[in-house]
Amino acid sequence: MNAELQINRGRLLDRLDRLAEIGAIEDGGCCRLALSDEDRAGRDLLVSWMRELGMVVRIDAIGNVVGIRAGLENVMPVMTGSHIDTVRTGGRYDGNLGVLAGLEIVAVLNEAGLVTRRPLAVAFFSNEEGARFAPDMMGSLVYAGGLALEDALATVGIDGSSVGDNLQRIGYAGDAPCGWLRPHAFLELHVEQGPVLEREGFDIGAVEGVQGISWSEFTITGMSNHAGTTPMSMRHDAGYVAAATGTFLRELVKETGPSQLATLGHLQLAPNLVNVIPNRALFTVDLRNIDEAALQQAEQRLFAFVETLAAVEGVTVNHRLLARFEPVAFDRELVGRVEAAARAQGYRVRRLPSGAGHDAQMMARLAPTAMIFVPSVGGISHNVREYTAPEHLEAGANLLLNLLLELAA
Ligand code: GLV
Ligand code: MN
Ligand code: MN
Repeated sequence: MNAELQINRGRLLDRLDRLAEIGAIEDGGCCRLALSDEDRAGRDLLVSWMRELGMVVRIDAIGNVVGIRAGLENVMPVMTGSHIDTVRTGGRYDGNLGVLAGLEIVAVLNEAGLVTRRPLAVAFFSNEEGARFAPDMMGSLVYAGGLALEDALATVGIDGSSVGDNLQRIGYAGDAPCGWLRPHAFLELHVEQGPVLEREGFDIGAVEGVQGISWSEFTITGMSNHAGTTPMSMRHDAGYVAAATGTFLRELVKETGPSQLATLGHLQLAPNLVNVIPNRALFTVDLRNIDEAALQQAEQRLFAFVETLAAVEGVTVNHRLLARFEPVAFDRELVGRVEAAARAQGYRVRRLPSGAGHDAQMMARLAPTAMIFVPSVGGISHNVREYTAPEHLEAGANLLLNLLLELAA
């Protein structure tokens, strides 16, 4: 361990601030939807920082960016990183922290004149959030070979344009083949985005894995009619099916148990007028569970509920699976190293699963992988109020520094 090496907290915070200025929204939040103009500006800033730090930058065909700091030997690199795209109402830490901590570590090593045996790679992956183009973790999924490049490029987003066209538009359709650099190990620093660490007084989370994710989109087609003249028994109300499904999710969770999570996050009614029965409802359901069998059961029950209710109401259902990932267990040895190193550095550490999806869950297909979490104040994320205290940002980055040095030795 290089206990004498420490990251520069002020410089890390400054980079977080400067990145957060791009796509800034109210109350310190960020809107940098994947492959938007704001995402391009954020990417440009990061690439310029990587080059200033002397890194070789390569961009692959799905727009993932990898900066490499050479090692003493030309062997598989140790990789860290995350994402810089955000949801529409995002904070400034989700994803950004993991990438900027990687750059901060490179800056510290440059100042110390220290060259590791293995190269160090810092990556940011395209479209982690999935808020504009489903599925989430798209860039790392393609990188790891879990989704064909052509299928990813053909994906159409919420505004009707495709991943491929937007990559061309922002100039990030790179020439490196996806997955071109296979890491020796992958370690991602991220804010917890949940309440556990803060509530229980821990500084660091050693993440054991990520729960399973199932995203569905339902389009219900019924018939519009007059809200005042149509008897309740004669309606084919698409809005009713959407609303009832939203309510059913709470029942589903009650019956499946507290590890089951369910969210109706997107809902559009047409024609969306006060006195017209909706003829169309489009909504999404996000189901998550750490247990794959339970998640499958929840999916079956949801699909059966919507089908049955639609038949009774006399409307049709079109269902599309937007994302489906089984739970992922991180590398046991690496998780143990995160926990041990945190303890050795004097941090209060506990193991925990991740509720959110992460690029690390895709990189786990390629290399031994683990994650470091730092506390999120109030457990708030995907919200402009997302906040992590500077001392915890620093703790996480210092722990990452030590572990990367260990892994690269
Ligand atoms: C993606 O980051 C998700 O967990 O929704
Ligand atoms: Mn994230
Ligand atoms: Mn996120």
